[in-house]
Amino acid sequence: MAAQISPSILSADFARLAEDVAIIADSADWVHVDVMDNHFVPNLTLGLPVVEALLKHSALPLDCHLMIEDPDRWAPQYAEAGAGSVTIHAEAAKAPIRTLRAIRAAGARAGLGVNPATPVDGFEDILGEIDMLLLMTVEPGFGGQKFLDVVLPKIRRARELIKARDLPVWLQVDGGVSAETIERCAEAGADVFVAGSAVYGAEDPAEAIRKLKERAEAATAW
Ligand code: DX5
Ligand code: ZN
Repeated sequence: MAAQISPSILSADFARLAEDVAIIADSADWVHVDVMDNHFVPNLTLGLPVVEALLKHSALPLDCHLMIEDPDRWAPQYAEAGAGSVTIHAEAAKAPIRTLRAIRAAGARAGLGVNPATPVDGFEDILGEIDMLLLMTVEPGFGGQKFLDVVLPKIRRARELIKARDLPVWLQVDGGVSAETIERCAEAGADVFVAGSAVYGAEDPAEAIRKLKERAEAATAW
């Protein structure tokens, strides 16, 4: 599968979301929406009403990353609203299989996210329940943090687990992904790349996306 870029609007201008999404419409594959509740992570961003509003203004599908407590209660509503993908965190979900199935039943792709210190090895048996595995490459909560190299072996292992089962599960990396780090992620086995500051902090966000994609594709060896 070709590399996909999912720019995070956490680094966009929250007062101009529709405009900031429009400028990436021709170059990005998804719009990554970071939902934070100030409990699962020490930051508060936006919720369902903003996602619903954004859906009316985005030509690209929304990739909703829920960094919230009790995702079992809230996640299906994002799928029902029309998000293209909804990711819940393994550390927060109490009934992940039920919730992932509810996301799929509502017509969205189901994602499972894990923090940098959470191993993936315990999740191989539920890979069939998901469409995407999100590996955090920074501690979740804020944009603009430094990429954690310590996650690279886990990216490799996750790709092996997916390959061994021959499943069409996408492997997303999120946090500190930039022109300096994207090649290492792609080489290790990632195929969907979230980038916030590397896109919205660039002079020309669309051009930054095209360059990131080029680098990722050139480094995809697996
Ligand atoms: C962090 C969020 C990320 C964040 C990435 O908790 O999940 O999506 O926006 O931002 P950068 O690319 O700047 O690290
Ligand atoms: Zn995110």
